[in-house]
Amino acid sequence: MKRAVFPGSFDPLTNGHLDIIKRSSPLFDEMIIAVLNNPDKNPMFSVEERCEMIREVLPTIETGNCKLIVDSFSGLTADFARNSGANAIVRGIRAVSDYEYELRMALMNRRLEPSIETVFLMAGEEYSYVSSTLMKQVFELGGRVAGLIPELVEAPMRSKKN
Ligand code: PNS
Repeated sequence: MKRAVFPGSFDPLTNGHLDIIKRSSPLFDEMIIAVLNNPDKNPMFSVEERCEMIREVLPTIETGNCKLIVDSFSGLTADFARNSGANAIVRGIRAVSDYEYELRMALMNRRLEPSIETVFLMAGEEYSYVSSTLMKQVFELGGRVAGLIPELVEAPMRSKKN
């Protein structure tokens, strides 16, 4: 059984995240979308809201035979992955600027849990500049984010703004 963890803040889920889930899921039997509980970062959505939105959106993408699970965690990704029985951590890389941060995380996670490999996927070109932070910023200032975040995420964002 090949089980992966795809960890992140997902505040909120973007089409870039969905693209990574869609493309990496055929590599695994099971994938846990693991939402970090990070109240210190003053997130737009609570961890429960983020999990709920992801659960609503996932049935809209094709993931073959891979079972998708949405869960939240606090503490170290490496601990969560080990306790979940995962053999891989999935991360997406958008641009060279992501590389250093991702390299540091992957090396640290490997030191913490040598049996778990980090698997990197290059972001889809059309999403290579899309981040949750940028989406929130543009949305808050009245810009268009259609096509970059799932429609099911746009409505909750609108209600946060009002
Ligand atoms: O979507 P993000 O914000 O880029 O995800 C970052 C995340 C959640 C993967 C990273 O911050 C993380 O793993 N946090 C948990 C704490 C931890 O394990 N830190 C050490 C990583 S080496």
